[in-house]
Amino acid sequence: MSNASNRREGHLFPRRLDPQLPVAVKADGVWIEDQDGNRYLDASGGAIVVNAGHGRKEIAQAVYDQILAYDYIHPTMFTTPAAEGLADALVAHAPEGIDRFYFLSGGAEAVEAAIKLARQIHLANSRPEKFRLISRWKSYHGLTLGALSAMGRAAFQTPYAPMLAQAVHIPPPYCLRCSYGLTFPDCRLRCALALEETILNMGPETVSAFLAETVSGGTLAACPPPPGYFEVAQDLRYLRCPPDSGRGALRHGAHRSLVCLPAR
Ligand SMILES: Cc1ncc(COP(=O)(O)O)c(C=O)c1O
Repeated sequence: MSNASNRREGHLFPRRLDPQLPVAVKADGVWIEDQDGNRYLDASGGAIVVNAGHGRKEIAQAVYDQILAYDYIHPTMFTTPAAEGLADALVAHAPEGIDRFYFLSGGAEAVEAAIKLARQIHLANSRPEKFRLISRWKSYHGLTLGALSAMGRAAFQTPYAPMLAQAVHIPPPYCLRCSYGLTFPDCRLRCALALEETILNMGPETVSAFLAETVSGGTLAACPPPPGYFEVAQDLRYLRCPPDSGRGALRHGAHRSLVCLPAR
C-alpha cells in the first residue's frame, strides 16, 4: 500500500507518526488515486463525510458560483440567500419539530455549541443548578475539550482528563456486546432504561442534557440502536427529545448528534 518513495518530507504536521502515507492526487466517485497510479476504494467516504462521492462536478460548480457571488459574510451583520436557502432545504429532511438551523464549521464545534446552548437555556429559565451532561460509552463526539468530555472512549480522554468537563456515561445501545449480557428483544431495552436510572441517581434537577449519536459514528462504526431505543428516551418524563429522534435524518447531513433537554 505504501513505499519509501512516498515518504512525505515537508512542513505538514502529520496525523500519524508511524506510517509512510501514500500521496493522494485525485479522487473520483468511490476511488482515490495516489501519485503512483494506485487506486484505493474509499468505502467509508473518509470519516463518513464524502457521502456524495468524490469529484462531483455539480457540487464543484455550486461552490464556484457561490464564492464568486459572495463567500464569508459575517452572520451578525447580514443574512444571505445561501444560508436561508440551506436552512429551508434542511427542514424537509429533519425530524418533525426541528425547524431552526445554526451553521458551524464541523461536528465538534456543533457539539460544543449544543452543550453550551443547553446550559444557556437553563440559565435563561433561572435554573443554574442544571449543568450535568449525560452521554454514552463508546460514543464519538469530536476532539475539542467539551466534545471530548462527552466522548465515551477512555483512551482518547485519559491524556487530557484533568482538563475535561465532567460527563456521566451510560452503556451504549450495542447489541453485539451488550453491557448487560442481554439479547434484544428480551432485554426490553435495558440500555435505554439506564438513562432514566442515571437521571434519577444524579438528581433530575441537576441534569442539563443528554447527548447521543442517532447512529453511532467514529468509535462504534455505523451501529444503529435497536428498534425502540429512542422511543424509550422520548417517553421518559424527565427528557424532551425531538420527536422522531431515532430516524437519524440528520446523519445524512454533515453531522448527526441528538441533544435532549430535561423536561423540568
Ligand atoms: C456524531 C459525531 N459528532 C461529532 C463529530 C466530530 O466532527 P468533526 O470531526 O467535524 O469535528 C463526529 C465525527 O465523525 C461525529 O460522528
